[in-house]
Amino acid sequence: MTGHLNLLNFTGAGRVTSSIMNCAVILILTSSCLTWSSAMYTPSRAAAPKKLMYLLEPLVYAEVVGRRGDNVTLPCVLRTKPSHYKVKWTKLEPGHVGPENIIMISNAQACKPYGHLGHRASLRKAHAMDASLQLSHLELEDSGTYRCELINGIEDENIVISLRIEGVVFPYQSKNGRYKYTFHEAKEVCAQQDGTLASYSQLFRAWTEGLDWCNAGWLRDGTVHYPIIHPRPACGGEMLSGIRSYGPKDKNHDRFDAFCFTSKTSGSISYISGSFSFDQAVKACRRQGAELALVGHLYAAWRFQKYDQCDGGWLRDGSVRFPISNPRERCGGLPEAGVRSFGFPNKTMHLYGAYCYR
Ligand SMILES: *[C@@H]1O[C@H](CO)[C@@H](O)[C@H](O)[C@H]1NC(C)=O
Ligand SMILES: *[C@@H]1O[C@H](CO)[C@@H](O)[C@H](O)[C@H]1NC(C)=O
Repeated sequence: MTGHLNLLNFTGAGRVTSSIMNCAVILILTSSCLTWSSAMYTPSRAAAPKKLMYLLEPLVYAEVVGRRGDNVTLPCVLRTKPSHYKVKWTKLEPGHVGPENIIMISNAQACKPYGHLGHRASLRKAHAMDASLQLSHLELEDSGTYRCELINGIEDENIVISLRIEGVVFPYQSKNGRYKYTFHEAKEVCAQQDGTLASYSQLFRAWTEGLDWCNAGWLRDGTVHYPIIHPRPACGGEMLSGIRSYGPKDKNHDRFDAFCFTSKTSGSISYISGSFSFDQAVKACRRQGAELALVGHLYAAWRFQKYDQCDGGWLRDGSVRFPISNPRERCGGLPEAGVRSFGFPNKTMHLYGAYCYR
């Protein structure tokens, strides 16, 4: 785009110079236009997507991003209205068998919501050609792929849009040590920490943002992976940095840690300084009308509010952690930002403050 604009400016200037110069400029412009249009129309024949007749190609907003609790709009706009048609919105679930997950079916007059997503869905109807879907109060599980389908009985067509929940991935390990969770238990512990099991793409994004973790954990699809930024012999060898994969594992018998995912919280977190035992920390929070924070709460505050507190504090699961956004020598010493952990100390030790949430 920039190149194009520059050329146009150049033509303007060219008018007041010699005609030879003008010709040269026109030649450049023409060849530039040719390249541009041929680039538009030369998708490989085998993979050429069917050209849409009714729906606008989703070039601009192919991915919509929101945080938990936000309202978002998944755009779907008609270019031509057939005389009779319906629009059907569905959430696509790869690997899912059984009935499809319909959210909304509408025609020119009315619309009908379906399923648990339907309760939070409405059509935007910003103008006569608008079939965009609004989703309110986003939840962690809402991330994924959505399809807007125009059904007119002759040539149905659809577009696909992905919804990404902006959030943070955190590894979670049992207080009894490494690799204690079956898949189902991993799912449960993530929920207990205000999260869900992360998807592969959430783990991948977390790796691009700096997550380096040398313990394998379950993901939502039943596969087991871990992200490595600094390759080292103990963590999959000296190969390239990246996601190390164990592939799919036995959900009932194999045991690993968990990679949980969470997003913005509606409450807020605060630190009470002191030398508390676990029980005293519980009480300290209660006195403020709050409760000990969950691991997910602390990660969300670190991710979204750049929460930084150089003091270990009790959390509700009995672990002691602290969030660092500005890494410095005297706060754990690590060069990267992150939530640091002291593991699960003896609950009777009077050593730590309290992270409260309300
Ligand atoms: C989201 O939409 C709901 C209704 O659908 C509305 O009550 C709420 O205020 C909206 N929230 C935001 C943050 O816009
Ligand atoms: C915690 O510490 C107390 C006092 O030092 C000790 O009696 C107790 O056995 C310890 N608990 C565990 C689980 O180690």
